[in-house]
Amino acid sequence: MLTLDDYRIQIESAIKNLKFPEGKLDSLYNPIKYALSAGGKRIRPVLTLMAADAFGQKADQAVMPALGLETFHNFTLLHDDVMDKSEMRRGRLTVHKKYDENTAILSGDTMLTLATQYVSEVPDTLLRLVLDSFNSMAIKVYEGQQLDMDFEKQSQIDLNDYIEMIQCKTGALLGACAKIGALVGGASEKDADKMYDFGLKTGVAFQIQDDWLDTFGDPTTFGKNIGGDINNAKKTYLYVAALQQDSQTAEALRDAFNIPSGDVRVKAVTRLYEKLGIGESTKKAVNHYSSLALKALNSTSLSDDKKEVFRKLAEKLIGRKK
Ligand code: IPE
Ligand code: IPE
Ligand code: MG
Ligand code: MG
Ligand code: MG
Repeated sequence: MLTLDDYRIQIESAIKNLKFPEGKLDSLYNPIKYALSAGGKRIRPVLTLMAADAFGQKADQAVMPALGLETFHNFTLLHDDVMDKSEMRRGRLTVHKKYDENTAILSGDTMLTLATQYVSEVPDTLLRLVLDSFNSMAIKVYEGQQLDMDFEKQSQIDLNDYIEMIQCKTGALLGACAKIGALVGGASEKDADKMYDFGLKTGVAFQIQDDWLDTFGDPTTFGKNIGGDINNAKKTYLYVAALQQDSQTAEALRDAFNIPSGDVRVKAVTRLYEKLGIGESTKKAVNHYSSLALKALNSTSLSDDKKEVFRKLAEKLIGRKK
């Protein structure tokens, strides 16, 4: 098996080699190049390549589906940044801010179709299974995004609601990345499903960490504006953990969120989270879901040294600062 960096370099070079039409449709394709070249962490395609490699195929056999999954991820970000009114991503302007909203919509649509084309570049015998898995994942992501939006307007969200929402919006994609990689690698469907479970739970831990970073992260390393979730009244892990404490805390939380969105609200909510020790309980939750992911990994038929690379990935994600 290669190292995490080797897999990432493989993906970076595949992205560099992508060719787009040039000329009068620059207005459609330049934003796609801008989004794909912007230096994301590439954890999803890395997971796909690792899984293919672990189950027996050389990682390069999975490069096109891996590229498809990264393109799908970036498509969701173009639309997500419109929905969340986010201005910064990966330390630079989001597509709808650098260009405009219509561009984010249509370049995003184009990326979705390109993603499907790339994912389809698997052996014919696997095509049906891979496309089914890709399409049901995509629907889950849209469902999760809808729940995320609906929750902005609801105050009574509990841990189950929250976990269901993030399993859909974030977990399903990491699950599909691990599953599709495993299938291309020649895994049995049983092992591929266990890898899905590993990816799903890793995704849950990953999203909880993202919630933590959105309030407590360092803006220069995180690359996104801090406090966006508080301003959007997102029902993050932090919110849900604070809400479940007691009725007095719930009231204080509601008061803080009644402040008009802006720095004053962000400071008030952050101070309340700090007082309640929510940062620490959020970190504990990240570790908890990550250990559930490792349980799923352990139930696969992979040898221990192959499992080790996935453990390293999970470990890296827990401590991530961006
Ligand atoms: C951002 O994903 C969206 C979430 C699920 C939190 P990443 O944090 O993986 O974004 P990039 O691709 O590395 O920028
Ligand atoms: C990520 O949710 C889920 C998807 C993009 C599908 P967030 O809205 O938390 O992601 P960031 O923080 O903008 O990257
Ligand atoms: Mg969002
Ligand atoms: Mg967002
Ligand atoms: Mg976020």
